[in-house]
Amino acid sequence: ADALKIGIAGLGTVGAALVRILQERRDMLATTCGRPIEVVAVTARDKSRDRGIDLSATTWFADAASLAADADIDVFVELMGGSGDPAYSAVKAALSRGVHVVTANKALLAAHGIELAGIAEEHGALLNYEAAVAGGIPVIKALRESLTGNTISRVYGIMNGTCNYILTKMEKEGLSFEACLKEAQRLGYAEADPAFDIEGNDTAHKLSILTSLAFGTAIAADDIYLEGITNISIDDINAAADLGYRIKLLGVAQRTESGIEQRVHPTMVPLDSVIAQVDGVTNAVAIESDILGELLMVGPGAGGNATASAVLGDIADIAKSRPGAQTVPAFGRPVTALLPYTRAQ
Ligand code: HSE
Repeated sequence: ADALKIGIAGLGTVGAALVRILQERRDMLATTCGRPIEVVAVTARDKSRDRGIDLSATTWFADAASLAADADIDVFVELMGGSGDPAYSAVKAALSRGVHVVTANKALLAAHGIELAGIAEEHGALLNYEAAVAGGIPVIKALRESLTGNTISRVYGIMNGTCNYILTKMEKEGLSFEACLKEAQRLGYAEADPAFDIEGNDTAHKLSILTSLAFGTAIAADDIYLEGITNISIDDINAAADLGYRIKLLGVAQRTESGIEQRVHPTMVPLDSVIAQVDGVTNAVAIESDILGELLMVGPGAGGNATASAVLGDIADIAKSRPGAQTVPAFGRPVTALLPYTRAQ
């Protein structure tokens, strides 16, 4: 069968890991997907940097816009990040010409997800974004597909690996906030601007996506009570421990009688709860629904391999799909069937 041709915009931690895995597992993926997956085009800020990957057979584009608009690709993989341009226009351009998009960009989806899903639907393209929330945990698939038919009452969890890593290291090793953040950056967990991690915005972006999927509503990323972990000291962590609690940065979305409530803030969780045991860069997402009951998913939430694993799954889904076959809408239901968002009073 014809190869699935992909173009990748962004070769940072995740992009480089993805290219390496696609090369190393080429044969295995060709067998699993029924066709090979080929990286035919890339763009990144620095062409000369040694990323430990072989891009000699790949066409370099000057920027994401030209890659998305001109490259002979079936899938545009957006791994640049950022809610605005160049990512926004490039994703739009790709979808508008029927090119499927795989993205890990939660900031982009929080700001423009529904608009992009609409464009995807209009042009018969897929918009896959498993890696955008909770790294390698398949939470998008769970909400979008597995739980179809359930009424969901609450979704919450630890959705930022950097913050959880910092809180864990402060407690277990007594290191300062700054030292832990530096280490999280060195390990490739943090955002390009780590303020998004520690001030809670990244968790809020992810939560807004889960809220839409859980409740069938339009994304409302601005309607989130937001408090990060920048004011948490070792004294706070120790005081919580004395009382039998651990401090975790949680994102919580729940249905109430008057509407939806979304919040992100440091939370005291009982030491004997499962959430309290979630250490380091690990994330956890809990989903409460009426048919299934409570689902708790725990796994690697950030970093090159964990994120690339989710991106790879999204690409493989496209490789296995047949052109024109029925597909799952990006936010679980057609954009026209999304409910208006009503905030809880
Ligand atoms: N900076 C993010 C985190 C990356 O630490 O969770 C994964 O989205």
